[in-house]
Amino acid sequence: MVKTKRYVVVKHFEEEPKPTDLKLVEEELPPLQNGEYLVQAEYLSVDPYMRPYIQRYPVGVTMIGSQVARIIESRNPEYPVGKKIIGYLGWRTHTVINPLKESGVDFVNHKPILLPDIGNLPSSLTLGILGMPGNTAYFGLLEICKPKQGETLVVSGAAGAVGSHVGQIGKKVFGLTVIGIAGSDEKCKWLLEELGFDHAINYKKADVGTVLRTVAPKGVDCYFDNVGGDISSAVIYQMKPFGRIAVCGSISSYNANASSLPKSTILQPMMVFNQLKMEGFLVTRWMDRWTEGIQKNLQWIREGKLKYRETVTEGFNNMFEAFVGVLQGKNVGKAIVKA
Ligand SMILES: NC(=O)c1ccc[n+]([C@@H]2O[C@H](COP(=O)([O-])OP(=O)(O)OC[C@H]3O[C@@H](n4cnc5c(N)ncnc54)[C@H](OP(=O)(O)O)[C@@H]3O)[C@@H](O)[C@H]2O)c1
Repeated sequence: MVKTKRYVVVKHFEEEPKPTDLKLVEEELPPLQNGEYLVQAEYLSVDPYMRPYIQRYPVGVTMIGSQVARIIESRNPEYPVGKKIIGYLGWRTHTVINPLKESGVDFVNHKPILLPDIGNLPSSLTLGILGMPGNTAYFGLLEICKPKQGETLVVSGAAGAVGSHVGQIGKKVFGLTVIGIAGSDEKCKWLLEELGFDHAINYKKADVGTVLRTVAPKGVDCYFDNVGGDISSAVIYQMKPFGRIAVCGSISSYNANASSLPKSTILQPMMVFNQLKMEGFLVTRWMDRWTEGIQKNLQWIREGKLKYRETVTEGFNNMFEAFVGVLQGKNVGKAIVKA
């Protein structure tokens, strides 16, 4: 008998998630039926979306999330032992999969798939730059911001999985002037010295609007917004006529109690007089072009245009700390747990 460990949601999060909101349980898995296979988690993803999305599910569900897992037993020749899959299996160490059954959460409602061929690159990248966050950066920047060479791009959450990638595509592929906004001097240093951003603003130390007026005196053409709130209002007030804003996320509000959210800044005058375009998106909009995003990002890594970094937490038992760390800004690049 194989045992699995999984995290069960026992209480919906209120403000900052607490360890007691989840319970780690151990269970025996049933023997495999014909057509099924058994996987063992190798890398698990911890992402900001988990914070707002889990509230949609009833207490008692397994905490949501994707993982790269190795097939360790199989009664299905299409999924042989030793191959790896990527799937939205939740926070669990072992999972029995029946490929004929729907699985996954409605966020990305697709079945586990065999890992795409990424050569000798680490399989964990399929949870980051060669997976959902990578495609978020690729499609969000190209399709919503529609950047043109020579323009100025601002990205918030710039040292995270999506933001660090957006800035690099902007710089290395489109030749934009790229300004990143992040929460520490160490992160800003990385953006400038390793990733080639033109400017980096530590929003915890500097006033974003004041710095932007200095480093982008002519204004901002594209804003890739990962955080929302005051940072975004400051950027939107520096946009040029016909600027484009891709609203990817609003992590500054994820832990907030609805009644304590700041009153919104009035953005309409800027939107109207500068004829700005602001569009929210979910990466799943481009599900039919998923492979295109992965292949393009793979190509850019191989051409040396994209660098990646992971913050790896060791041990499945540390899933919660890794997850809360993302909400607290402890990660640089993609946050991953090695099971
Ligand atoms: N629309 C979509 O389909 C889609 C898909 C994937 C991700 N997203 C969104 O994209 C954003 C980035 O996701 P990610 O996976 O790349 O995460 P990430 O940037 O790797 O990690 C989150 C980062 O957010 C920053 N942060 C936390 N609290 C903040 C606050 N109050 N104000 C400003 N920054 C704060 C922290 O960095 P600092 O140290 O800089 O504060 C933290 O490291 C999230 O909003 C996520 O929900 C959207």
